[in-house]
Amino acid sequence: MNIILLGPPGAGKGTQAHRLEQQRGMVQLSTGDMLRHAVAAGTPIGLKAKAVMAAGELVSDAIVSALIGERLDTSVDKGAIFDGFPRTQHQAEALDLLLADRARKLDHVIELDVNEEALVDRITGRFSCANCGAGYHDRFKLPRVENTCDVCSAHEFHRRPDDNEQTVRTRMAEYRAKTAPILPYYRERGLVRAVEGMASVDEVARQIDAILDGAPALPF
Ligand code: AP5
Repeated sequence: MNIILLGPPGAGKGTQAHRLEQQRGMVQLSTGDMLRHAVAAGTPIGLKAKAVMAAGELVSDAIVSALIGERLDTSVDKGAIFDGFPRTQHQAEALDLLLADRARKLDHVIELDVNEEALVDRITGRFSCANCGAGYHDRFKLPRVENTCDVCSAHEFHRRPDDNEQTVRTRMAEYRAKTAPILPYYRERGLVRAVEGMASVDEVARQIDAILDGAPALPF
């Protein structure tokens, strides 16, 4: 099964993709994570992407489509979760070609329906363990022991450089201008299913599981 998780920054794409990986053995293909690794490693792609990401703008279609193509050639037997890709009409068309070349198809496009204002709070407050990546939030989920990761007891934490309010607002504007307009492309093919992204993480997970397990679509 191959699915796209579609929603603005902070909608919960990464949270749900990570869960699906653990529970279903699917593979999360996050272009944001791939680009952050490239930036950290100082690769030619990372050098090109760094300033663009820091500004909250979109990296070029050619770069991200190539990254996804490379990952699709590795083991994704139990299915791929596209997280943060596609983000433009051009990327959506590129993904169709990449899947067709590998005799694969898209099964669902899951739209996380959210309130953007609430997401600014979600994003600007988040941080993660620098060692194991466990996620925390200044208001919603602090470590049980101050400055100590609940999972691995490390004391170093990390905040994404693009998680400040100004950049988040640019990321939201990019989503509205370039990504939301690809929904009709998938709606025409009957692939889009919406879930209530402002519900709890567990409730969003339940709604996504129902879709993957074949629950019929309700009118929305
Ligand atoms: P990317 O890394 O994809 O970031 P994003 O889309 O802005 O999404 P986020 O990772 O911020 O949010 P998310 O939806 O995954 O939410 P999360 O689960 O973390 O992209 C970063 C940049 O890379 C882009 O700006 C661009 O420059 C570049 N880029 C990437 N892909 C590209 C592409 N295809 N083309 C061009 N450029 C590209 O959750 C957020 C927080 O909320 C967490 O703290 C979490 O714990 C919490 N949370 C999650 N769900 C819930 C819930 N239901 N209730 C309460 N809290 C929740």
